[in-house]
This record gives sequence, C-alpha cells and structure tokens, in this order.
Amino acid sequence: MALAFSGGLDTTVCVPLLEEEYGYDEVIGVTVDVGQPESEFEEAEETAEALGLDHYVVDAKAEFADLCLDGVRANATYQGYPLGTALARPVIAEAILEVANEQDCDGVAHGCTGKGNDQLRFEAVWRDSDLEVIAPVRELGLTRDWEKQYAAEKDLPVEGGNEGDWSIDTNLWSRSVEGDELEDPSYVPSPEIYDWTDEPTGESEEIEIAFENGYPVAVDGQEYDPVELIEYLNELAGSHGVGRTDVMEDRMLGLKVRENYEHPAATTLLNAHESLEGLVLTQEERQFKQQIDQQWAQKAYEGLVDAPLVGALEGFIAETQGRVTGTVTIRFEGGNARPVARDSEYAAYSADHASFDTETVGKIAQEDATGVAKYHGFQRRLANGVLEDDDDE
Ligand code: ARG
Ligand code: SIN
Repeated sequence: MALAFSGGLDTTVCVPLLEEEYGYDEVIGVTVDVGQPESEFEEAEETAEALGLDHYVVDAKAEFADLCLDGVRANATYQGYPLGTALARPVIAEAILEVANEQDCDGVAHGCTGKGNDQLRFEAVWRDSDLEVIAPVRELGLTRDWEKQYAAEKDLPVEGGNEGDWSIDTNLWSRSVEGDELEDPSYVPSPEIYDWTDEPTGESEEIEIAFENGYPVAVDGQEYDPVELIEYLNELAGSHGVGRTDVMEDRMLGLKVRENYEHPAATTLLNAHESLEGLVLTQEERQFKQQIDQQWAQKAYEGLVDAPLVGALEGFIAETQGRVTGTVTIRFEGGNARPVARDSEYAAYSADHASFDTETVGKIAQEDATGVAKYHGFQRRLANGVLEDDDDE
C-alpha cells in the first residue's frame, strides 16, 4: 500500500490505521516535492523513521512549476486564489501512482477528509488505474480531535509545533492556511498565520519581467528557469507583503470554507501577464479569452488539468500567446504588485492614433468619429421613445 505521506497528523495516523483497520502491514510513504519548505521533508523523514515506514521522496518541482506557468498564460485564479494546491494535486497523485506501480503495491491511500477538494483531485488520477483507493480519514469518519487523541495513545510522532492546529498546505505556487479559529469567518487572522509575506512597509521597488509566448522568462534581464523564477519572486514580492488573500471559498462539494492564502510570485506574474495581454491582444480576443481562462481555472480547481476541454482551451491560449512577448515593469508598493509600464513589439496600439495631441493620422481624422457618435445608442433612443421622427421635419 502506498500512502501519500507528509508527516502531518492526518497522514501519520493513517499508517497504523491502514494495518489495524484495513489489514495492510506493508505500507510505504511517498512524499512528493512540489516546493514545500525543507522543514517539511525533515518532518516527513523523521516521522517515517519513527513509524518504521519505508519512505520515498519524488522531486516533481520542475513539472509542477511548468504547470503553474501554464496557469499564468490562462490568468488562472479561482475566487481570487491562484490554485497552488489544486494544480499540485494531479502532479503529486501521478508521482505516487508511479512509485506504487514500481513497488508492486496493490493500493494507494491519502489522508484527505471527506469535506474537501483534495480527495477528489487525488482520486480522479488514481481511479484511472486498477489499484485500490483507500481514504482512511473519510472512510472511518475521523475528526482531528480523535486523531490527536489516537496519536497520543499510540505515542505516534506528531508534533504540535508552532503551527497551532491549522491545516497548512504549501508548495511553490501558494501557501494555504485553514482550520481552527480561522473557521470563524468573523475572526481576524493573527499575524502568525503568515509565513511568506511580511507586513507591507512604506518602501517600494520596481522590477522588469520579460515574457516570451506568455511565459515569464527573466527578471531585470536575468534569466531564470521556472522553479528559480517562482522562488525568487516569492522571496522578493513576499518581502513587500504582496499576495495575501482571505476568502470564503466555494468547494466542489458545495461547502464554503474560509481560506487564507499567500502567493507573492503568483500575484506578481499574473498581474504582469495580464497587463502585457492588455497591450498586445485585441479587444475581442481579451473578452473571449476571459471565458477561456475562467474555464481553464475551473478545471484546474477540480484537479482535471488533463481533461480534453483543457487541451482545447490551451489550443486557443497558445494561438494568442505568441504575441504575449515583451516586458512589464511591476512596482511593489503597499502590499500590491502593480504594473506601471509595459512594452512589446506586438503592441496592438498606436500612440499616434490614440494621442490627444494629433489630429489626422493616415486617413483617419478626429471628425470621422462624428458619424459613429450619431449612431451610438440608436436602438436605445428608439426603445426609450426619445427619437425625433425625421420624416415629419
Ligand atoms: N481550499 C484549497 C483548495 O481546494 C486549499 C486546500 C488546502 N489544504 C489544506 N490542508 N490547507 O485548493
Ligand atoms: C482536506 O479536506 O483534506 C483538505 C482540504 C481540501 O481538500 O479542500
């Protein structure tokens, strides 16, 4: 049996329960690296050792980072959240499935609850295979209080740590904090819930981000690979307090949950990308792409990035992104990452035509708009009964 293992409370109690309740005495733990902090791997390693669990670590950072940047091309957010957890789940689930197959496991297990999204995202991938899928926390109806007591009775290696009783999920793209007192929507979070973002100061800073085909490739002229780029911007934008969201999130099951997120790099890159699209895409492309982007984000939220619809949406996205090549200057200020300049050889913009300082440009003069202005709102005039009947004049 291969267990998705983080070393946290849920997955730790799953280890003895898989034996006691399900009869699996050979359990391996798999931790997939999607950019969690080093301390999480140490915790997983130590906990696995204390449990006598065979532990595998798979590095999927590069693959995950690529998917996050596909999200940038799709301007992807769900209710304000850039989808870090959601995008990571299929990557993690695939990696675990691979290890499970290599190690001849007959099943795969996760420690997700029956209330959240993650159970659906993991299982969407796992149920593509013939392996048995087990969800002890959901199937045994476990609560966190029960888990804590069970862990204490069994002397399981779980640390309360300074993370309190929050449920935290961290990867390259976002850090999510939920549970405990945060479940009260009227509770104002204490500063301790934040780890990636500092309180904004009065300081500001500007950076220039270069895009090629809608993908960010360099900052201030320095090229980075996707993992490095995201790590670098998390650090920099986080120091300016960029990328905090506190939302009432509608989960797939229909339950609302109060979520807090930190995502400095994601906010910076999404703002910059959208600003560059504003320069190079036509009005109708931008309008239509909003619908495409929204569908992309919805499937990503559902953990279904390999759905045929997503491939079709990406066909449209790819068609538009060739021109999303250029640079955007972002100013970090007051907790925001605000685009303050953009430049591209593909600009669908003519300063000469738009300027208030020019009269006739090429064959178009200012007065040519008079006819358009006469027609603008014509049907509304008819419908509202305010149109003079020209025949009677
Ligand atoms: N609600 C978010 C999502 O569905 C994040 C869930 C993260 N999990 C956690 N244990 N904090 O994508
Ligand atoms: C869980 O319920 O296990 C975590 C949160 C989620 O999946 O949305």
